[in-house]
Formats: sequence, structure tokens, C-alpha cells
Amino acid sequence: MALKITVIGTGYLGATHAAAMAELGFEVLGLDVVPEKIEMLQRGEVPMYEPGLEELLRKHVAGIEGASGRLRFTMDWAEVADFGDVHFICVNTPQKHGEYACDMSYVDNALESLAKHLTKASLVVGKSTVPVGSADRLATRLAELAPAGDEVELAWNPEFLREGFAVKDTLHPDRIVVGVRSEAAEKLLREVYASPIGEGSPFVVTDFPTAELVKTSANSFLATKISFINAMAEVCEAAGGDVVKLAEALGHDDRIGKKFLRAGIGFGGGCLPKDIRAFMARAGELGADQALTFLREIDSINMRRRGQMVEMAREALGGGSFLGKRVAVLGATFKPDSDDVRDSPALNVAGQIHLQGGQVTVYDPKGMVNARRLFPTLGYADTALDAVRGADVVLHLTEWREFRELDPAELAAVAASPLILDGRNALDPATWRAAGWTYRAMGRPAA
Ligand code: UDX
Repeated sequence: MALKITVIGTGYLGATHAAAMAELGFEVLGLDVVPEKIEMLQRGEVPMYEPGLEELLRKHVAGIEGASGRLRFTMDWAEVADFGDVHFICVNTPQKHGEYACDMSYVDNALESLAKHLTKASLVVGKSTVPVGSADRLATRLAELAPAGDEVELAWNPEFLREGFAVKDTLHPDRIVVGVRSEAAEKLLREVYASPIGEGSPFVVTDFPTAELVKTSANSFLATKISFINAMAEVCEAAGGDVVKLAEALGHDDRIGKKFLRAGIGFGGGCLPKDIRAFMARAGELGADQALTFLREIDSINMRRRGQMVEMAREALGGGSFLGKRVAVLGATFKPDSDDVRDSPALNVAGQIHLQGGQVTVYDPKGMVNARRLFPTLGYADTALDAVRGADVVLHLTEWREFRELDPAELAAVAASPLILDGRNALDPATWRAAGWTYRAMGRPAA
């Protein structure tokens, strides 16, 4: 009989995982503690913008016409415990307020709520990003609480999905990492992932701490790559070099690779910034803080980029104050193809200029609702053209395709002055300059 799978927590990670598991042919039951989320999912609606996810959900949610019916949602822990052979914990681990460490309360609560109801054999699999050592602690807790005792086991299976590619990354992962303590657990997870394994996804079996560390070290490496190229951008700015050409040339060395070398206003989002901070905090607790002091520098290079973008805008406007200046901001989300504005460099820059007296008007293809909620005092426009109308300077801060496809001539006709600063090095300078714009970008020569 096919395995029955439950997914606890239906945010980015959980909603995608649940839909993907149904797509792979399993019967799936998802649980969340927020009633509104469950109601939306039951209607086949996704609480966030993620390409392809709503379609996948609608293909499987029970009660939707034409759906496979393999995917259902509930708020009842006993039902989940009774249903599942494998339970995936997909709740979030945000940064603690006022600290670097991550807040484990959602994971702890999920594990405890589930464990109390586990009266039959099953495998509980953690997917959330956690500080190393958590799985060991949670395994002990599970053993203490689960009525089924030894028949219940824990495994750790970090998730590497990127927002904007969540469906693809979940159905076709570039690797599957499982931290297990028994052959039975490994066997069960091989069964869950039989389809991607069959397609050639490497399946890496480790102990608990290594599995947990793969995730945090992968994100640290990616953050390091971005901050490295941004540090090179700073040097290019000082020396008159071109960081885009530099990155291109570096990328031809396949030991370095060309990905994640896009200089600009740096990384943000719900993962990289908080994950590197939580990693530093955990290393400190383990007495290994020296090993990760470099991440402090990675973080500060990254945060510096936002301030430098503000200064670049100030300089472009003549060097004085922002008072009375109209600033158009294209992009609010932390990356394109997402509506996520958590720790968004774009909104941070927009907010700083606004707080310094600039009249900021933001447009984003998908992030308007979330941006308005986070920064209600900023100005918002319904289109890029409207945002640019009357602007003294235009800031390109999130590299949506829509912005690359804008007609620079049409925008030049409505801007107060045709001055664009590319904070993502994603627009084509020649096209904008040909349409009469003064184009400037981070880490590149002025003309
Ligand atoms: C990241 C990891 O990539 C993913 O594997 C993990 O599971 C979760 O965290 P995500 O947060 O979706 O995924 O975003 P990612 O694509 O990594 O981008 C992070 C930030 O870095 C964005 O703000 C992006 O604009 C920025 N970035 C990325 C750069 O500034 N330059 C680059 O070259 C690449």
C-alpha cells in the first residue's frame, strides 16, 4: 500500500511539499494551526505567490472538480497522527526578536503536539532549518512523549527549495539529504523520494548533525558568494572597474562558477540573513564561534549595500537632502517571482529614502499587498509607468522580467529627469542610454 504522508505547517515549505507529495502519488494530509490558511488551501488557494503552486494544489485538493483528491487539510493533531506513516515537520524558524538565534518554538510545539498522539509506528521527519543539535534533542523528546515508544522514530531531511522555483526544486531536487539513525528510516525515505531518486537526484545519507549542517552551510556559502562579489563591486567602484565584466570572467572558471555572482543591493528574504545569524549564534554556543566570524563580515558587507544604494541616489540627485525629491522605486520583493518582502533590500532602500524626506513611489508586480502592509507610509503606484511619472530618479531594486521589458523611451517621456540607478545590474545599459537615460549601476563605471 502507498505510504500516507502528513505535512505539518503549510507555509512556503509545507504547502509546496504537501502538493508535491500528492503529485508523486501519495495520500497527503496537511495541518496548520492558522484556520484562515487551512480554509484557503481547502479552496485550492495559496496564501502566497509562488509560480505553479496553485495549479499543482488545485490538481490534487479533495473537493475541487477534476482533482485527484489525494490532498486534504485539517487542524486536528489526532487525525494527523492516526493518518500518517511519515510526518514532515515544515514549520518556520524565524530569527528571535532582538537576538541572532533562531526561534525554535514552532518546531518544538509541532513535535510535541504530534508526539502525544502517536499511538502507531511512524517516522517523523524534520524539514525546518534548525540549529545543529536540535534533531538529537527532538528525538529524545519524541521518545518521551509518543505512546508508541520505540515504534516512532525521527529523521532529519533539510529542504533547499528556492522561492520562485519551489515547485520545481521540490519535485526535482538537486540532492536529497537525510539524517537517520536506522536502516528502516533510510528505507522509508528512499520510498518517499523514489521518483526523484529514479530521475538521478543524489541521495546523501548522514547522521543528524551533518544533515542539519548541510542546510546552514549551504546558505552560508551562497551568502558568502553574493557578499564576495559585492565586496568586489566596492573595489570596482573605487578603482573604476566593472564588476559585471569581472563576474563574467570569474564565472568562466568552473571551480568558481557564474551563479550567485550578481552584484547589487545584496541578499534578503526569510532565509539567508536569518540563517547565517542563527548559524553564528549556534557556533558560539558550541564554542566554535571563531570558525564563523567571517559570516559577520558577510552580513555587514551585505547590509552596507543598502546604505550605499541610498548614497548613490543622493549623489545622483546632486548630493544634498532628499527633501522635495521624487524617487521611483521599481521592485519591493526580496527577489523576483515572489511576493515575499521579508528583509527585502528593495523596501529597505525605499524606506530609508522615505524616512530622509524623499517622496518615494513604489511599484512591484506581485509584492504590493505585502509591501503596503509592512511600509504603509510609502507611496505606491499601480504600474511602473505611474511610479516613474514625475520622478527625479528611478531606482531598479528587484530584477523582475517586467522591468527588463519596459520601454525606456516611454518612461523617459514621463520622468521629470531620465536618471536610472540599477541596484541589481540586470538592465541593459546600452538600451537605456540610447533612449536618453543616464544609467548608473553598482560597481560599474558611470558611462
Ligand atoms: C535561499 C537558498 O537559495 C535556498 O536553497 C534555501 O532553501 C532558502 O534560501 P531564497 O531565499 O528563495 O533561497 O533566495 P535566493 O534565490 O537564494 O536569493 C536570496 C537573495 O540573494 C535574494 O535577495 C537575491 O536577490 C539575492 N542574490 C542572489 C543576489 O543579490 N545576487 C545573486 O547573485 C543571487
